[in-house]
Amino acid sequence: MEHIIRRYGLEQGALEVQYIEEHFSEFRHPKTAEDIVSRLRGRECLILMSMAAASENDNDLLPVAFKVGHELKALETRPDLAELAGQLGACVRFDGRKVFYSWIGGTRKDWRGHGHYRALTEEQEQWAHDHRYHEIVVKTKNRFYPMRTTLDRLRYDVIKLQPNADDPAESKLYLSKRIGSDAVRNHRTVRTVEETV
Ligand SMILES: CC(C)(COP(=O)(O)OP(=O)(O)OC[C@H]1O[C@@H](n2cnc3c(N)ncnc32)[C@H](O)[C@@H]1OP(=O)(O)O)[C@@H](O)C(=O)NCCC(=O)NCCS
Repeated sequence: MEHIIRRYGLEQGALEVQYIEEHFSEFRHPKTAEDIVSRLRGRECLILMSMAAASENDNDLLPVAFKVGHELKALETRPDLAELAGQLGACVRFDGRKVFYSWIGGTRKDWRGHGHYRALTEEQEQWAHDHRYHEIVVKTKNRFYPMRTTLDRLRYDVIKLQPNADDPAESKLYLSKRIGSDAVRNHRTVRTVEETV
């Protein structure tokens, strides 16, 4: 199967992410386009969508999966990113290295199990490799079981557990993957990327 992936510029991409997030019951606080623009403006970022037909007899493509990430530095001024960089300080080396944070993503329920998330993840890794990143970091929670399994299949290693003593299901997991030539050589999906800036 060939995956059609669209890469968006910031403004249009933020609107597309706001729209697709409305279809996810898992997200308690869906992001608005404003949240996305405010976080990503002025930093290197990547907004990707995987496209598929709405139904078998339909030729029109719609976004069915998404993945958004951005560069993360050791010293961030935004409080949420400073907190994140602080959490990672002991387990990720920032000095002289580029670190990419895979922020949000998912696949709409009706299109799960068809490799859309693998395709987006592999495209994100290829882009990160092309842009000289050394590592991709991602955060999830214990309760997101399908995401944990998926990240395991995609060979992301757990680097930190931030326990929640009241509710272990809410404990946060930090995972990472080193982005060398090996990582991209092992990619399995066939992808066509369309630029929509
Ligand atoms: C997790 C999620 C992104 C997977 O998307 P998807 O498009 O169905 O994933 P893919 O089809 O690309 O599968 C990727 C790999 O993970 C595995 N996988 C995916 N979902 C799985 C599940 N529920 N159980 C077991 N394995 C699973 C696939 O078998 C595949 O492995 P392979 O490529 O080695 O065969 C999707 O279920 C989702 O959006 N869940 C909700 C999002 C969420 O929980 N977000 C929490 C915030 S972190």
